[in-house]
Amino acid sequence: MKIATQATQIGLETNSRTGAVSVPIYQTATFRHPGLGQSTGYDYSRSGNPTRQALEEGMARLDGGARGFAYSTGMAAITSLLFLFKSGDHLVVTEDLYGGTYRLFEQCLQQYGLTFSYVDSSDPEAVRKAIRPETRALFVESLTNPLLKVADIATLSELCKARGLLLIVDNTFLTPYLLRPLDLGADISLYSGTKYLSGHNDTLSGLVVVKDPALAEKVYFHQNSIGAVLGPQDAWLTIRGIKTLSVRLDRQQENAGKIARWLESHPQVEKVHYPGLADHPGHQLMKRQARGFGAMIAFQVTDPALVEQLLMKTTIISFAESLGGVESLITFPAVQTHADIEPEKRERLGITAGLLRLSVGIEDVDDLIADLAAAFTG
Ligand SMILES: Cc1ncc(COP(=O)(O)O)c(C=O)c1O
Repeated sequence: MKIATQATQIGLETNSRTGAVSVPIYQTATFRHPGLGQSTGYDYSRSGNPTRQALEEGMARLDGGARGFAYSTGMAAITSLLFLFKSGDHLVVTEDLYGGTYRLFEQCLQQYGLTFSYVDSSDPEAVRKAIRPETRALFVESLTNPLLKVADIATLSELCKARGLLLIVDNTFLTPYLLRPLDLGADISLYSGTKYLSGHNDTLSGLVVVKDPALAEKVYFHQNSIGAVLGPQDAWLTIRGIKTLSVRLDRQQENAGKIARWLESHPQVEKVHYPGLADHPGHQLMKRQARGFGAMIAFQVTDPALVEQLLMKTTIISFAESLGGVESLITFPAVQTHADIEPEKRERLGITAGLLRLSVGIEDVDDLIADLAAAFTG
């Protein structure tokens, strides 16, 4: 079954008794036991809830893994996964990654003895050089936030397999519709479900898919023990979002391609980062490993003074954090999503005072371009 079809099927198969096409929201904390020592398969909603399970099983199928897990947010998913490691372990990590992930690693987890090295994960040689005897995993973003660098998942997977390292891929920007990390050799894929999977800027969620059943058992143990699970209402909203993932993303990336080319020709734009542009360093790799280029664009304006003007003067495009929803959003990474990265490091990475990030929605592209054009004029 093709992935667009699979996405629409999530939740359907759990309803054999009533025939309901939409999975019910099992708004219950607990479940009655049929007898002493007996269970319906559900005991307590932290351990398992049928609505959440429909989402988890659907995600596992969508991403080609043994099991899926749903968490309250993307950060909760990442935190739970990091419980796979112990004091003294070292991870090699994408350097221009989501600022919240960087904050979690640097400001929360280091105190428990985990160490992290940050490298350009679009350069397998840089990754290889960063590996130490105590390295246990490579944590990469398939398409980095915010600079849209592309990680070669198959090459990185070979590198990891040869050294017994786990390959964890944050595939938030692409989703299984555009790239399936586990097919390319990754062990774990993870998502801020808040973004494209839910797709409507109305709910938070985090999703993880694990390839190997034994590893999945450990991830389940931590999910249940830590308890940052997704509630049934939000699981249902995420399922509903996933059903339209393919049509939304088709439209979003078509719009993004047109906007990226328009920005490229704009005199007040110095540089456009979009992997769909032929001169993007990851363009050919994306053509090989993904089904599209996604709908995130970062662009550098010629004068940092234009940043505030663009943020304030766009009217259809909202100045707001987050991404991936049907509504276009514009973000200023240095001050918003990546504020927790040290200023010198941000500057070195290219997350500068003139860099803006655009999450392209499903609006009519002519309106989006007109909105940007008017904002540039001031
Ligand atoms: C690539 C990436 N990973 C993880 C997260 C964290 O997800 P959440 O905001 O759902 O906790 C984000 C949020 O922006 C993100 O962009």
